[in-house]
Amino acid sequence: MAAVGMSTGLALKQSTTLKSGFCGTAVVSHSAPAPKATNVAFAVRAGGYDEELVKTASSIASKGRGILAMDESNATCGKRLDSIGLDNTEANRQAYRQLLVTTPGLGEYISGAILFEETLYQSTTDGRTMVDCLNAQGIVPGIKVDKGLVPLTGSNDESWCQGLDGLASRTAAYYKQGARFAKWRTVVSIPNGPTELAITEAAWGLARYASICQDNGLAPIVEPEILLDGDHGIDRTLEVAERVWSKVFYFLAENNVLFEGILLKPSMVTPGAECSQRATPEQVAEYTLKMLKRRVPPAVPGIMFLSGGQSEVEATLNLNAMNQSPNPWHVSFSYARALQNSVLKAWQGQPENVEAAQKALLVRAKANSLAQLGKYSAEGEAEEAKQGMFVKGYTY
Ligand code: 13P
Repeated sequence: MAAVGMSTGLALKQSTTLKSGFCGTAVVSHSAPAPKATNVAFAVRAGGYDEELVKTASSIASKGRGILAMDESNATCGKRLDSIGLDNTEANRQAYRQLLVTTPGLGEYISGAILFEETLYQSTTDGRTMVDCLNAQGIVPGIKVDKGLVPLTGSNDESWCQGLDGLASRTAAYYKQGARFAKWRTVVSIPNGPTELAITEAAWGLARYASICQDNGLAPIVEPEILLDGDHGIDRTLEVAERVWSKVFYFLAENNVLFEGILLKPSMVTPGAECSQRATPEQVAEYTLKMLKRRVPPAVPGIMFLSGGQSEVEATLNLNAMNQSPNPWHVSFSYARALQNSVLKAWQGQPENVEAAQKALLVRAKANSLAQLGKYSAEGEAEEAKQGMFVKGYTY
């Protein structure tokens, strides 16, 4: 704790010590004559990890690369495995995750991989840690730290995201284990409101999470997912997204979060999944970039979109459309479903299909890498990759 040095004649009203990272306004007074409020410039927030956080975030936001989200909870991973007839055992989850992290050449297109806790502490069948496999490819290991969604009492049947209790000690342990960035996914539902309560809760939770992560060396991904559910048009999504992001940034600032050391994971601005009026990639790009330019400071290094139930090709086309002209931030992907769907289909749980499944992952990763550079064309894409994956009320 640093004591605060005051200039002549000024003193804090009470004897106070402040956290060294504090950056704010204190009320001070002359002993005489009249009390007066003065702004005192304290040292700008100076967390021990600041330099590393900035480096981590900017290396993940590097040209032509994006994030592989492979952080499905055990329950959600079970659904993935079930779709190809496999039981949800630890051995099957390990085999699947091993396939992903050992894909040769993956580091050319993927800069970060988000893991579930089990995978962060897991080894491959030949005894290498999953973390080492990623590092060997220049892929930064990340960790999902939220504890999932539960009903938000007093709201319109909306949710809030748990996980702040004990987060400081958990993130410190994850850092020791090799994680360098984190993810916290909360959701906002358009058909259920969203109520001001749900938006405030989502934004405040994200800001507290981000601050705690930065204090422990993890660059936080800030993800308020605006769900695709609903029959609303794209203008309504834009309006809600603007409301959500303005509150998120307000609370991030209030919590002294270092913007250069975070990444965002927004939903693209699209019509609701059940809206009859569909939008072209150019319209999605126009709306999404308009929203981001209005709400996101250029200090943020990277915007890493979620796919949210779009088809693999749709998610890639939309990203490509957003990179047709320069943006203030790196605009890229952090897809789970839109990177993994064809991989699972190619694998089918068979050891002899591992190579084909890894090739399928490279195809998707490369396509999205090209889209990050604005150079993707959907020519030659498989019909299967064009099928949507939207699931109503999807949980992650
Ligand atoms: P999807 O790309 O499947 O929407 O997953 C996003 C996500 O939040 C995973 O981190």
